[in-house]
Amino acid sequence: MKIPPVKGTRDFYPPEMARRNWIIDGWKRASLRNGFEEYDGPIFEHLTMYQVKSGQEIVEQLFSFQDRGGRELAIRPEITPTLARMVNQKISALPKPIKWFAVPRLCRAERPQKGRLREFFQWNIDIIGEDPGQADAEIIFTTLDYLRTVGLTSKDIQAKISSRRLLAAVLTNIGIPAERLDSLYAVLDKKPKLPPETFDAILGEQVPDAGQAGKIRELMGFRSIEQIAGITEANEALGQAVDELRTAFDILSSMGMGEYCTFDPSIVRGLAYYTGVVFEVHDIAGELRAICGGGRYDNLLRDFGGPPIPATGMGMGDCVLEILLEERGLLEKQVPKREIEYFVALADPEMAKAVYEVVARIRSQGRSANFSYRHGGLSKQLKEAAGQSARMCVIIGQEYQEHRQVAIKNMATGAQELVDLEQFLSRLSS
Ligand code: HAM
Repeated sequence: MKIPPVKGTRDFYPPEMARRNWIIDGWKRASLRNGFEEYDGPIFEHLTMYQVKSGQEIVEQLFSFQDRGGRELAIRPEITPTLARMVNQKISALPKPIKWFAVPRLCRAERPQKGRLREFFQWNIDIIGEDPGQADAEIIFTTLDYLRTVGLTSKDIQAKISSRRLLAAVLTNIGIPAERLDSLYAVLDKKPKLPPETFDAILGEQVPDAGQAGKIRELMGFRSIEQIAGITEANEALGQAVDELRTAFDILSSMGMGEYCTFDPSIVRGLAYYTGVVFEVHDIAGELRAICGGGRYDNLLRDFGGPPIPATGMGMGDCVLEILLEERGLLEKQVPKREIEYFVALADPEMAKAVYEVVARIRSQGRSANFSYRHGGLSKQLKEAAGQSARMCVIIGQEYQEHRQVAIKNMATGAQELVDLEQFLSRLSS
């Protein structure tokens, strides 16, 4: 019986595993150099954790199950609720601000498509305990810092930045009742995924007043904060939202990321808990789904029974990122190839024991070493060494028996020298 892999999952054969490790190492290095500490949580939580605050889209995509005790559980589709729970549990003992990162494996029962799978890895960075402004800029900076390091320029990607608070202020000013905002956000978030006529029809259902709907469509197309004055009067709420957003842009520009950042009020974000600055990074051509997304969520810790502590963060999956890096040729250039430092080969089949000794002693110095299980001729062994991309071959022949000497062959240049085995091994430890 042949059992196929489950739809939307991936098998990581060694080449795919090398890519995954390289991506995750890069995420971790970027987190550490930007001052974040690593944490993790369980891979499943109580189902209600995601039903309360993550929003309808996530609820529909949950892998949920009942355990033997009848408890309703779900595999984590995101780690932000776990983070809120963990921070709440120890809030008074944790030094602020909390700057934490994680790389959880997540599951969402989404329709598998380019860049969206049912199981994926997601880099998370979050700052808890800081008011709007600097922390939002730091989250966006750290995100872009990683993307820049792997070779993506402002000609490849853009961080599209907006603010839920700004959107709320504009929408309220043009006459949308506060209680309708959440359902309107869900519609606006779907705009890029829908044909324009479908979007217009859904918007029309939510906002029957043609004048209001027209202003919303206009707002979605703005690319500078100043344009907002064209559709609504200024007031305190709007002024505050604009100031927060400007602060984030100013800091990002001082940190040298100005050219990566654009104001884009069509960025609303699907998750229900965002309250302030929100952003997504997209490929410039707009051919792929979002590379990452995040924003401020000042009420989530309080909603999970903790104190009212502000928070902001970002999540980046490995799927779209990998597609983009592949398209730009950046994986081939950067993902380290399999490499063995030493391949120990036998010129004389009588001396198999010596191979075991030398291999073990090289490995005990912390260096990688392999040998052939097949005991074929020397040329076959050298071929096997080349197939494993060995850098050096240690050849054991007659001189080993007579003088404890081995030949070291540089596989790139072909140069070969005869050396004393003990001297060679002692060089490895230095
Ligand atoms: P999200 O927008 O649901 O936000 O996901 C963030 C990123 O995770 C997406 O932009 C994408 O890179 C990746 N992603 C999401 N779903 C999939 C999927 N089915 N397959 C592959 N990649 C996917 C969150 O998850 C928030 N919790 C992020 C956050 C952290 N906000 C504040 N802190």
